[in-house]
Amino acid sequence: MRVLVTGVTGYIGSHAAVELLGAGHDVIGVDDFSASTIETRQAIERAAGRKIEFHELDLRDGKGVECLLGHAELDAILHFAGRKFVGESVANPIRYYTRNVTASVNLFAAAERNAINNVVFSSSCTVYGNPAKLPVTEQSQIAPVSPYGRTKAVVEGLLQDLCHAQPKMRALALRYFNPIGAHPSGLIGEIPWGTPNNLVPYVMEVATGERAVLSVFGDDYNTPDGTCVRDYVHVVDIAKAHVLALEAVRRNTFGNRFENRDGFGALNLGTGHGSSVLEVLDACRTATQRPIAHQVVARRPGDAAVIYADPTRAASELGWRAELDLITMCTDHWNFAQNIAEQQADVS
Ligand code: WQD
Repeated sequence: MRVLVTGVTGYIGSHAAVELLGAGHDVIGVDDFSASTIETRQAIERAAGRKIEFHELDLRDGKGVECLLGHAELDAILHFAGRKFVGESVANPIRYYTRNVTASVNLFAAAERNAINNVVFSSSCTVYGNPAKLPVTEQSQIAPVSPYGRTKAVVEGLLQDLCHAQPKMRALALRYFNPIGAHPSGLIGEIPWGTPNNLVPYVMEVATGERAVLSVFGDDYNTPDGTCVRDYVHVVDIAKAHVLALEAVRRNTFGNRFENRDGFGALNLGTGHGSSVLEVLDACRTATQRPIAHQVVARRPGDAAVIYADPTRAASELGWRAELDLITMCTDHWNFAQNIAEQQADVS
């Protein structure tokens, strides 16, 4: 298939591109480099041993999107591009509604006009907000608690409505839990921009010596060691799920046992297993062989105590299961973080 990958030089888009190329698909990548760099394009090509076609494009530019989709002869779209920080979305909701929602409306309007009917969308467990029951299934209530989460829920709704209106349109929303890790080649991974918001990127900067100490946000939760529990999943496992999702969408084989009547479905991507902040820290100490100082500070507002996925639907629909364990996630993340730290040292 000729597959448009939006956000191709971003964290998950770049790993998905490598897996798509490995599975024999052609990648037509777009990015505006608002949170990534051109070097990632070459890194994707080195990791996969194949070239991609690339267009620099901001999806808020509706005419540009229409022009690309009108000419690219695409079979499918994998839509990753968007902002992803909860705190930033609270401070700047317009940025989130334009970059995540307006951009998606432009993209899917052009897809509809050009009869590009196979879509996989990068969604998030954040659409569930603070779930009442665990593990989280796809039937759990959609109740996002941040502007970021609401933009993901809005785009899922848009795709559901579009699939209803256009009988040939089919879309799968993949709801990621906490992706970490990097490609085992060390060539691609999550490039930190400023102070990391997420746990593992922060831990890695303590390990490289760039930051002094990790602040653990609260150890008085009702969990075994008092720290929050999340479902961390290797980014390469997440990337592989996209290839399977794309094939399921094209064959229209998903959703037969579930509520899919209009060609829209949503799947959780997690391991089904939760790890606490202190367990992740220990795994990172093992992976990095560095001490990694930490201090316990106040809870972070808005954090749920425990969230982990029920991933059985992704297994039955796609045959997908997360295969890589926490130590592998931390080892691969560390491998890439060291490469980035070395490159930055060379530049300065
Ligand atoms: C994990 C745990 C923190 C930083 C976010 C998004 C979610 C999804 C995944 C994309 C929490 C603790 C963190 C630190 C800490 N992303 N922590 N010290 O909040 O579970 O989920 O990423 O859609 O939508 O909200 O991930 O990595 O920020 O935090 O103690 O410096 O680590 O309190 O318990 P989170 P996270």
